Amino acid sequence: MAKLRKPCRFSVVLFLVLVFLCSGWHANAETEYISAAGDPGMRRDSLRLAIESWNQCNEVGKEVPHMGSPRAADCFDIYKASPQSNEKNCSICNMLPYTLVHRVTEADNKLGVGDPFLGVQPDALFNVDLYAAEKELYLGSKCEVEDKPNPWQFWMIMLKSGNMDTSAAMCPKNGYKVGPFGPDNGFPCFGKGCMNQPLIYHDYTTLQGPNRTTLKGRFYGSWDLNADLSKGSVGNISYHSVDWKKEIGRGSWVFHHVLRTSIKYPWLMLYFRSDATQGVSGGYHYPTRGMSKIIPGSPNFKVRFTLNVIKGGGPNSQFYLLDIGSCWKNNGQNCDGNVTSDVTRYSEMIINPNITSWCQPDHLGICPPYHTFPNGTRVLRNDTAHFPYAAYHLYCSPGNADHLEMPYTLCDPYSNPQSQEILQILPHPVWGEYGYPTSQGEGWIGDQRTWELDVGRLSQSLYFYQDPGSPPARRQWRSIDLGAEIFKDPDQVAEWTVSDFDILVSKQ
Ligand SMILES: *[C@@H]1O[C@H](CO)[C@@H](O)[C@H](O)[C@H]1NC(C)=O
Ligand SMILES: *[C@@H]1O[C@H](CO)[C@@H](O)[C@H](O)[C@H]1NC(C)=O
Ligand SMILES: *[C@@H]1O[C@H](CO)[C@@H](O)[C@H](O)[C@H]1NC(C)=O
Ligand SMILES: *[C@@H]1O[C@H](CO)[C@@H](O)[C@H](O)[C@H]1NC(C)=O
Ligand SMILES: *[C@@H]1O[C@H](CO)[C@@H](O)[C@H](O)[C@H]1NC(C)=O
Ligand SMILES: *[C@@H]1O[C@H](CO)[C@@H](O)[C@H](O)[C@H]1NC(C)=O
Ligand SMILES: *[C@@H]1O[C@H](CO)[C@@H](O)[C@H](O)[C@H]1NC(C)=O
Repeated sequence: MAKLRKPCRFSVVLFLVLVFLCSGWHANAETEYISAAGDPGMRRDSLRLAIESWNQCNEVGKEVPHMGSPRAADCFDIYKASPQSNEKNCSICNMLPYTLVHRVTEADNKLGVGDPFLGVQPDALFNVDLYAAEKELYLGSKCEVEDKPNPWQFWMIMLKSGNMDTSAAMCPKNGYKVGPFGPDNGFPCFGKGCMNQPLIYHDYTTLQGPNRTTLKGRFYGSWDLNADLSKGSVGNISYHSVDWKKEIGRGSWVFHHVLRTSIKYPWLMLYFRSDATQGVSGGYHYPTRGMSKIIPGSPNFKVRFTLNVIKGGGPNSQFYLLDIGSCWKNNGQNCDGNVTSDVTRYSEMIINPNITSWCQPDHLGICPPYHTFPNGTRVLRNDTAHFPYAAYHLYCSPGNADHLEMPYTLCDPYSNPQSQEILQILPHPVWGEYGYPTSQGEGWIGDQRTWELDVGRLSQSLYFYQDPGSPPARRQWRSIDLGAEIFKDPDQVAEWTVSDFDILVSKQ
């Protein structure tokens, strides 16, 4: 399964010695990998987990009354309880051998705009967008784990609704503030307030099971603010839920996700993310906290995880086997927070077999200008005999690029704080070299797999726009996520589990 080291080559004479060395020792000249994740393989009992929610343009916009700012965390340390000397009868101590000490209180999680906390900047206190960004840093300070080469904070669950009220002028266009427009039926909206944040409820992690050795907790809720969740996800309501479970000292955490769309909220996203622990992350123009204590860069990293898709989310569910997010300017320079020149870059492999290729010989404007094979050969998109059209769902160009090749399709200018570029790929033999699925249906419902994807080499080979003659950007992936985006399709349910997640970077 794990093909992390190149196979050993040796002469017959040294066979026995080397069998021992190859199987037991990693310290040799071959490629060595270290984990970029704070919690390699999700094996750490003392969990670090947070949740965030974004509106169409990756902001808060408006808080839900009594819910606080849509950032919350579940971080605890686990201790073995020792019998108290002043207790005479301590049979209970054997029954409850572990204690959880939660680092984030309910009061922390409920903090909402206007509530001061340690470190909050005056300009953020009464601005819902800045407040959420700073609340994330605050929760991060409570969850932070010291480590080498950098401390880290948490895995991040991300929620997003695609609703947009074009008459409310809340989202900038390619980073520029614009006035009201529309109606535009490209964006769902049931009327005033359609861009609301969801209800988010929290069951703190506790010890459960007959032996009190099963750790379990949950975040869940709905965007429908009048939803009655006491009966679970019933009726035509939107719904989100992530529960997590682990046996102390054994195996991986298992994160179980459910996402449901409704008539009022037909476009929803639920991702599990490993974000940068400092600086910005994919699609987010504020400093972030996360799990990637090392930022993986192309081509030298791999991503490993187990994915079990239980329900697909319907024919319009863009289920991302993996979604990588980064940021660089069109001239190849690093992003610096200037939203008119920074560009979010995303690439995603969609594994729902219902999603087919829009990139076609007669729709070249939605294909990348060229495809690069693993041997370095480039094939132009108008080379109909050789270009692998079926390997691409769509490619769209950044709205602020000055030298686009005709024909082109611009990405949605509103759904990010800045311009974005998106390259969506589909299972196809051209990706087999990198460990990705080669045919539709692989890894889909009923086909749970542990993937080891050579994301580094794949992402190095993908097309991303740059101004002609500019030095190539360093492709560093500040967010690595997986999950579902159900696209404008009400009453659909996606359900899946993620475990064993790790990011492995080759040691220089
Ligand atoms: C200790 O507790 C157990 C169960 O709670 C009880 O059966 C037992 O009688 C107690 N022993 C003493 C010495 O109090
Ligand atoms: C609980 O502990 C008993 C005794 O150590 C063990 O046999 C059993 O498998 C445990 N149950 C679970 C669910 O871990
Ligand atoms: C939800 O609404 C849709 C469309 O109106 C309908 O087809 C479906 O049966 C409803 N589902 C439930 C669970 O009520
Ligand atoms: C942001 O980028 C734009 C476009 O390159 C540039 O015109 C502007 O001066 C920059 N703003 C700042 C504050 O650097
Ligand atoms: C979606 O894919 C499933 C399984 O491949 C198939 O049974 C179904 O007919 C497809 N639905 C649509 C709308 O394409
Ligand atoms: C590179 O790979 C492509 C696709 O497999 C193949 O068609 C082409 O001949 C190869 N080029 C060279 C120079 O090996
Ligand atoms: C294909 O596109 C390239 C540039 O994109 C162009 O130079 C070439 O003439 C095109 N070939 C055909 C056959 O259209």
